[in-house]
Amino acid sequence: MDKTNAHDATRPAVGVDIKNLYKVFGDQPKKMMPLIAEGISKDELRDKHHHILGLRNINLSINPGAIQVIMGLSGSGKSTLVRHINRLIDPTAGEVWINGKDIIRLNRWALRRFRREQTAMVFQKFALFPHMTVIENVEFGLRVRGISYKKRRVTAQHWIERVGLAGYEHSFPNQLSGGMQQRVGLARAMANDAPILLMDEAFSALDPLIRTDMQAVLLDLQQELAKTIVFITHDLDEALRLGDQVAILRDGEVVQQGAPQEILLQPADDYVANFVRDVNRGRVIRCRTLVVPGPIVEGPDLGANLTLEEAARQLGSTGHDQANVIGNKGQHLGSLTIGQILAAMVEPSKAG
Ligand SMILES: Nc1ncnc2c1ncn2[C@@H]1O[C@H](COP(=O)(O)OP(=O)(O)OP(=O)(O)O)[C@@H](O)[C@H]1O
Ligand SMILES: [Mg+2]
Repeated sequence: MDKTNAHDATRPAVGVDIKNLYKVFGDQPKKMMPLIAEGISKDELRDKHHHILGLRNINLSINPGAIQVIMGLSGSGKSTLVRHINRLIDPTAGEVWINGKDIIRLNRWALRRFRREQTAMVFQKFALFPHMTVIENVEFGLRVRGISYKKRRVTAQHWIERVGLAGYEHSFPNQLSGGMQQRVGLARAMANDAPILLMDEAFSALDPLIRTDMQAVLLDLQQELAKTIVFITHDLDEALRLGDQVAILRDGEVVQQGAPQEILLQPADDYVANFVRDVNRGRVIRCRTLVVPGPIVEGPDLGANLTLEEAARQLGSTGHDQANVIGNKGQHLGSLTIGQILAAMVEPSKAG
């Protein structure tokens, strides 16, 4: 794509392994660990011992090049968790393995270098420098790293164009709409070319239409970049659209993790079921998730990637009541009946 070296495609994606991670806020967090090991509740720890349980025994493996979504109610620990990945927060106990190193044990110098080279963060409140132009904001990280003026300008320009802001290079943030400012934030994160991108409610402040646009921009960039992205959101539709994997937090614990469709089809408990209740299942679940393996049936072919809504429409128009499901390469995967499709569209299945 690119004469500018804006992205080094040969650089391998980097996974993140979080192990037995605990975070307690308060004066003597380590002293609380035995109580926590005994299973004290977050409320009791707060009321009786004046400490806040931020995270309890988080174990999460994030695959290189995947988008990991973190969801949960306000206060469930999402920001606390993501800030451990670049160690803006030190844990009370636990490990965060990246590139073969436990970053919790890096010294100050190594940590600074790790943050600068391996991670970039996009915030909800854009966090742009108001006195710098768009291009100065985007190239900021490169300037800090001592990259020459000419080189960093070329890279910054590339990303400004990639996020659709060509022509605004010399505008100041307060001359841009919220959606445009968020594009600057994204371009700035991309310009650093860090393999890990941390996005804490990055799109939550945007209008719905602009938000959908930004999701498309991100997915489009991701096609090309395959970064490891940790994306925090309150919004289930956003989670399902973006996430390869979703983890749901409650009171500092992961209550369920898995592919979005798994969470939708088999919510682990009422808390998760509440989250997924209002989703338009017909637009999210795809035929491949439901397909029943077996011989070829009398009926039309449906692509495995079709949503149930599309599948129901296509099948309905043929007059058949069942169809074959066909994979990417034209292979037969199995079949589905119209009844199975419609049932999955309306009824939250508790089948495990
Ligand atoms: N610096 C701190 N000192 C004390 N308690 C904290 C601190 N930071 C977070 N907490 C507590 O830790 C818990 C998790 O907070 P966190 O900010 O991670 O939640 P969140 O899921 O990101 O919420 P939101 O959706 O509102 O952003 C909350 O109970 C919060 O009060
Ligand atoms: Mg938060």
